[in-house]
Amino acid sequence: MHFFTSVTLLKQYLHAQRMAGRRWGFVPTMGALHEGHLSLVRQSEAENDFTVVSIYVNPTQFNNPDDLAKYPRTLESDRQMLESAGCEVLFAPDDAEMYPGPVRLRMSFGALEEVMEGKFRPGHFNGVATVVARLFHMVEPAAAYFGQKDLQQFALIRQLVQDLAFPVRLVRCPVVRETDGLAMSSRNRRIDPDGRQVATVLSYALQEAEEALLKTKSAGIARSVVGGIFYPLEGVFLEYFEIADAYTLEPVEVLAGQPEVALCIAASVGDVRLIDNRIISRDRWQ
Ligand code: PAF
Repeated sequence: MHFFTSVTLLKQYLHAQRMAGRRWGFVPTMGALHEGHLSLVRQSEAENDFTVVSIYVNPTQFNNPDDLAKYPRTLESDRQMLESAGCEVLFAPDDAEMYPGPVRLRMSFGALEEVMEGKFRPGHFNGVATVVARLFHMVEPAAAYFGQKDLQQFALIRQLVQDLAFPVRLVRCPVVRETDGLAMSSRNRRIDPDGRQVATVLSYALQEAEEALLKTKSAGIARSVVGGIFYPLEGVFLEYFEIADAYTLEPVEVLAGQPEVALCIAASVGDVRLIDNRIISRDRWQ
């Protein structure tokens, strides 16, 4: 596996590959890799000549400095995992390489960022969009792979690519779960053992809400199911549960003609904030 920290050297390598007629897929990450990331790498491997993975803990998307400081950094084991997954290029720039000067541009995504994560993490998506745009310019991939777990991030990046005409195909890959249902996340390793058990309530509540929604078609009933599941629990704090159009993220009250509806949840277990979602497509209720 080739390892680059310099944008210039990365571009030199990629230019030679383009001249040789090769196309690559790109998996942007913040490291602390797990099976969820590897599923993105494998999908990219299957659809492209080779894969570029980036690891960069982007400070501009953390609205909470404590969260940034605590974000796990595990470059050595990440490298080994990528090597065994067959990744050809790892790009891990430092802050000076990623942001040689101050970024003054502010991106606003309107309604897409006024809900859910956008409401709870002010400034977060401006940071994500900025770094993803910079990474797309650095890597110039044919396709880029993102996890469905960060559904709002995917909706925003789709808008970014459309609005700024990035010549990249975006691929949304399914949530990968632990055997007890907990969605894989780099944050899971920060949950203590008691919290780890209670953390399964996110995926359980989503499952129950999905069943209620499909049965009754009513978002209100699905919401009360989730409220009822969280109410008696200690050690976990429900931040939001939303039912939204998976593309526009507009709230859904009744299942109707939307192509896909997403059930999205965020909760804190101790001081670890977790998110999860399930997407149902129209053919499930029509
Ligand atoms: O999903 C992530 O890990 C990050 O938000 C991303 C897309 C790598 C941008 O920093």
